[in-house]
This record gives sequence, structure tokens and C-alpha cells, in this order.
Amino acid sequence: MQTILILGATSPIGAALSEQFSNGNRIVLSARNHVRLIAVADRCIKVGAIAVRIAAADLAHTIQPIIDANSEWPIDLIVDAASAASGASRVRDPDVAPDAMQGIIQADVLAHLDLYQRLAQLNRKHPDIVFISTVLAIVKTPEREIYSAVKRLVEIYLEKLATSEPAVKVLIFRIGKLIDPDRDSQSAKTMAARVQHELTAGSLTALYGMGGRVLIWLNFLHPHVLNLIVRILRIFRG
Ligand SMILES: NC(=O)c1ccc[n+]([C@@H]2O[C@H](COP(=O)([O-])OP(=O)(O)OC[C@H]3O[C@@H](n4cnc5c(N)ncnc54)[C@H](OP(=O)(O)O)[C@@H]3O)[C@@H](O)[C@H]2O)c1
Repeated sequence: MQTILILGATSPIGAALSEQFSNGNRIVLSARNHVRLIAVADRCIKVGAIAVRIAAADLAHTIQPIIDANSEWPIDLIVDAASAASGASRVRDPDVAPDAMQGIIQADVLAHLDLYQRLAQLNRKHPDIVFISTVLAIVKTPEREIYSAVKRLVEIYLEKLATSEPAVKVLIFRIGKLIDPDRDSQSAKTMAARVQHELTAGSLTALYGMGGRVLIWLNFLHPHVLNLIVRILRIFRG
């Protein structure tokens, strides 16, 4: 049995990951929306979690509820899918006010590094980490540079961790397709199963989705062509 912390457990992706990792494990669920966390907790129990605990926290302000949960159930694995600047919100760089930047950096970078390090100190062992990232962390696209940059910063921390502490399992899982349960109810579940597969296989990085491979290929071919195609696709997707 492991104790597994799911950050961003209230999104469809986070909920699918919570269920995927439930069987035979203790699960700590975190995000801001308490009502949705309770619904996800019920589903985790139904699919075989031994016990579930909720540690609601706004990462822009505090990680303390998660530290408190860890004092009773030391966390072995963090599945980190929380993001204030994420894909589904579709926030574009021009929509981000300058004074919102600090909150985004706190919620999407500093809180994550602080949490990883505090848990490592408290448990005298760095937890294993699955970081749900995006292909946009490594491919520059128009008006998504804030999202891209914050994801990439956490990736860099984890790449360094994997080198300096080889005993810690690290998986950087880059999603390269739109996971939208309104269009495809199975999409988040299929992705979550792949995350667990890659973790078991011991991968350091994984790219999920053909769209991501095409983006990387187009970027290699010519970044301006990539930018044009992304702009056109966004006009059609709205
Ligand atoms: N959907 C996609 O196609 C796609 C593509 C590439 C990568 N991803 C990655 O997959 C993950 C989930 O994305 P999503 O598209 O499902 O996004 P989403 O619906 O916006 O989910 C973001 C998650 O982070 C939590 N969150 C946001 N701000 C927070 C804060 N200040 N403190 C604590 N928790 C916070 C949200 O929960 P609360 O609102 O309850 O706090 C939610 O659970 C993200 O890491 C994203 O980068 C998604």
C-alpha cells in the first residue's frame, strides 16, 4: 500500500488519475473546490481506495493542509496535475493582468517546489513524483508562453532531481492532445491508464498524443509555420 497525493484532483484529468491510482492505496486529494473533492473521494472509495483524505488548499496561498495530511499519512507518491494556468482554462497571455503573474507563479511553480521539498524533509525521503505537463512546455506557441514557462520550470526542477537523486522515481508526462471529457468521456481515463503504465515502466519523460508529436515536428521544420497553423486551429476551435 502507498499513500498517494493527487494535486488538481477536481479536474476531469485529476479525477481520472485519482481513480486510476486508488486500488489498494491511501489517497490524499487536493484542489480548491471542496464539493468536487468530496465527489472524487466517493469515486476513489468505489474503485478500491483503502481510505481517502481531503486536503483542500489554494496553492497560491498555502500548502499547509497537505503538510497536515502528511503528518498522519506520510506521502510516498505525488501525482501533480494542479495548474492555475492550465489548458482547459484556455487563458491566453494577453488576458493575464500583470498583477496576476505573482499568483500564477506561486500556484504553478513555487508552491509545487516548496511542497516537494517540505515532504522530502519531513519524511526523510523525497516522494516519487508524476508531473502532468504539456507538450507546450517544449514547443513555443502563440499567446501561451506563461503556461509554457511555468510548466517548463517545474520540469527543470524534476530533471535535476532525477539526476541528483536516482532513487526517486520521476515521471514528466507531457500531454500533447486536447483532453476534453465533453467531447470524449473516455479520454481522461485512457490518459490516466497510460500515466500509470509509464510510471511502472520507469520512464522519466513521456509524450501522450499524436497532436503533440506533430507540434514538435512542425516546430523542428519551421516555428513560423507552426505558429500559423496553431492560430488557424484556434480560430476553428474557438
Ligand atoms: N486538458 C488538456 O487537454 C491538457 C493538455 C495538456 C496538459 N494538461 C494538464 O493537465 C492538468 C489538468 O488540466 P485541465 O485541462 O484538466 O485543467 P483544469 O480543468 O483547469 O484543472 C486544473 C486543476 O488545478 C486545480 N487548481 C487550479 N488553480 C489552483 C490553485 N490556485 N490551487 C490549487 N489547485 C488549483 C483545479 O482545481 P480547483 O479549481 O478545484 O482548485 C483543477 O483541479 C494540468 O496540469 C494541465 O496543465 C491538460
